[in-house]
Amino acid sequence: MSLAKKSNIKKITTHQLQAMKERGEKISMLTAYDYTMARILDMAGVDVLLVGDSASNVMAGHETTLPITLDQMIYHASSVVRAIDRAFVVVDLPFGSYQGNSSEALRSAIRIMKESGAHSIKIEGGSEIEESVKRILSAGIPVMGHLGLTPQSIYQFGTYAVRATDEEEAQKLIEDAKILEQAGCFAVVLEKVPAELATKVAESLKIPVIGIGAGNGVDGQVLVSHDMLGINKEFKPRFLRRYADLHTTMIDAVSGYIQDVKAVDFPNESESY
Ligand code: KIV
Repeated sequence: MSLAKKSNIKKITTHQLQAMKERGEKISMLTAYDYTMARILDMAGVDVLLVGDSASNVMAGHETTLPITLDQMIYHASSVVRAIDRAFVVVDLPFGSYQGNSSEALRSAIRIMKESGAHSIKIEGGSEIEESVKRILSAGIPVMGHLGLTPQSIYQFGTYAVRATDEEEAQKLIEDAKILEQAGCFAVVLEKVPAELATKVAESLKIPVIGIGAGNGVDGQVLVSHDMLGINKEFKPRFLRRYADLHTTMIDAVSGYIQDVKAVDFPNESESY
């Protein structure tokens, strides 16, 4: 298969994402973990590609995002970077690669930027990672924050339910979002929080707020590509809209291939040398 690369295409930057917020244009973001999928998503015109640590679930079949390593994230990220002409590429700092201290966080972020060629990193947490965010930014690396449901803390939460439904957690989220903005993050992801709260955060921050399960009052949306394309049909949260049923399409295609092989119908003469 060949998906030819185009040239002279204007690349998306953090400045353009900021300008999009300012003119009220919503930002589209999707996950990508490999070259071929990233090539398709970039050709379709998505603004931001997230090499999410959800690769741990989607690519490797783990129950949580915790097992994926920094080396594995760099492998996925470099495959995605080779594919893109236009999209801005954000890479998750995986669990265990930044919680120790800000030097460790900086070292991990530098490895991602140097070894994958990605454009920025994403990091989960609020006030507790402020020092790390500042340290990473001081090296000239753009940082995207991530608040609300932060899957690396799943064992602390105990559930994937909606976050910040009570006043105390909502207040902490608003404060954390401000801390991340003041620290210098170029954008923040809000995952699975009430739409009203997410809208309030988006209205109170100058930087773009990208939502997943956070309603449509934010500045952009992100989904896991395999979920929205209907490749993975087992995950059915309320916030997910499926734009295709590739699971069925692929099962049908593979069944057709198996049938043709068994019936000695494939390959035919025109498919042979
Ligand atoms: O890893 C991921 O896919 C994410 C998105 C759900 C925001 O962090």
